[in-house]
Amino acid sequence: MQSLANLTSSLNLKSVPKQALEQAKKVDLTKFEADNTHKLNELYLHDKQRAMYKGSVFNEQGVLDQHFKDFRAETAEQKNNLLKARKITKRIIDGEKFKAVFTGSAGSGKTMLSVCVMNYVYENTNMSCLFVSVPKLMDWERVRAGGSDERRAINLEKRIQNADLVVWDDLASETALKHPDKDTKIAQASEHTQKVLFYLADSRKGKNDVFTTNNTSKELMQIYNHKLISRMLTEKPENIIQFSGKDQRMLQN
Ligand SMILES: Nc1ncnc2c1ncn2[C@@H]1O[C@H](COP(=O)(O)OP(=O)(O)OP(=O)(O)O)[C@@H](O)[C@H]1O
Ligand SMILES: [Mg+2]
Repeated sequence: MQSLANLTSSLNLKSVPKQALEQAKKVDLTKFEADNTHKLNELYLHDKQRAMYKGSVFNEQGVLDQHFKDFRAETAEQKNNLLKARKITKRIIDGEKFKAVFTGSAGSGKTMLSVCVMNYVYENTNMSCLFVSVPKLMDWERVRAGGSDERRAINLEKRIQNADLVVWDDLASETALKHPDKDTKIAQASEHTQKVLFYLADSRKGKNDVFTTNNTSKELMQIYNHKLISRMLTEKPENIIQFSGKDQRMLQN
């Protein structure tokens, strides 16, 4: 499998025209906004939004409140990533089924952009969407394996199996937290983690998933076995967004 780094270098970010932001805006999502068959009435949307918030599993309050309009596109990379994310959104709304991977350094906007995609799809179609923090999912599964709170994990699994679009946030950090600047040893995920993820990933054949991760595909292949990787990862450059920008979280703190 080609590494994500190779794939993204072949995209030649430097050659992205200065007008990338303009191009991003031109990815014609507006027709979905104008189309009444997709547009949801506000009352329904409000209920739907609450259902998605209730069903999702996340660490940080406010993480689901992010939209494309909030994403600052100042650098060439941000402009290019916004463009790619809007194209991915359009393809999902058009009914294409695929896996996407947002990969790269901490605080660079992976979670934010994945939420922007999810919210756009959610607010403009009848598709059901779910945001799942993978470390949190695995916490719940461990508690379940220990014999308590079985229902909570089982219900989450059902929601994952049924959703049209799932954002799997922070894949692999349930196993190893990696400092982006240090060559930390990568450990293989436990058998239990791999079993749970395999069972869930296998149940999502033919559905849309977006994975965010700090790890490269080479590292992910050290962490998970190939059968699991092949159900989650993609080799298609248009489905991969690489983030190498500054830590925006540290700029805010
Ligand atoms: N382009 C952007 N415009 C506005 N805010 C941004 C942008 N990129 C990141 N942020 C903000 O910076 C913070 C960190 O971004 P985010 O959580 O998406 O990073 P991440 O790449 O998922 O990091 P990690 O690998 O640690 O999970 C968030 O508060 C997010 O809203
Ligand atoms: Mg994140």
